[in-house]
Amino acid sequence: MTDVFDRWKFDGVFHFAALSLVGESMQQPLRYIRENVSNTMLLAELAVNAGCLRFVLSSTAALFGYPDSIPIREDAPLRPVSAYGESKLMAERGLEWADRVHGLKSACLRYFNAAGADHLGRIGEAHNPETHLIPLAIKAALGTGPGLKIFGTDYDTPDGTCIRDYIHVTDLADAHLRSWTVSMPVAACVTTSVLAMAILCGR
Ligand SMILES: NC(=O)c1ccc[n+]([C@@H]2O[C@H](COP(=O)([O-])OP(=O)(O)OC[C@H]3O[C@@H](n4cnc5c(N)ncnc54)[C@H](O)[C@@H]3O)[C@@H](O)[C@H]2O)c1
Repeated sequence: MTDVFDRWKFDGVFHFAALSLVGESMQQPLRYIRENVSNTMLLAELAVNAGCLRFVLSSTAALFGYPDSIPIREDAPLRPVSAYGESKLMAERGLEWADRVHGLKSACLRYFNAAGADHLGRIGEAHNPETHLIPLAIKAALGTGPGLKIFGTDYDTPDGTCIRDYIHVTDLADAHLRSWTVSMPVAACVTTSVLAMAILCGR
């Protein structure tokens, strides 16, 4: 990355790379914190040294842990319950210091579940390993993957399964561009239960 910053001049950084599996983070918390925090700080440091003073971080709704109320307010307490969430919180805090001391202006977008495909079909969901509900449900419906397992059926929700918020990738891409120019919260989520989503996907 040092070579990249030496060779080109950038207006700012969009930082998407991370270790991002919540379950894995609870097996390897130190690796998650090391990777996600130190690599974000390294990138921020390179940006500052290059005079590139805008930074957008892929953060996560996992910062809020188990919120006191729904919908979650942006100023709700930050209480991550996974090492993954903690690593993003630490990265956000590091960026605050980079602003205070070096003037690195950052926006940390706390995504819920990113979902969907580009409307022209140019990109879609393809994780390896696949852990996301919608692709797993579609694969199950097509018979190209194993049957869908629903974890937890006794939540205090209308159908007993966990309720999640989904944001379409196109809205998310738009939010990134807006965060570049304006400092404002962006909300464009759809809320649904795991069971309802599985049924919507045909499984
Ligand atoms: N997908 C979601 O629903 C969601 C929700 C909240 C936050 N996020 C965040 O958004 C970002 C992108 O998520 P995603 O779903 O595309 O995740 P992903 O795991 O599919 O993609 C992350 C990519 O980062 C790469 N990476 C990790 N460490 C790296 C390193 N040191 N150097 C170079 N590349 C590295 C991985 O190889 C992977 O390709 C992540 O920061 C994630 O934490 C995603």
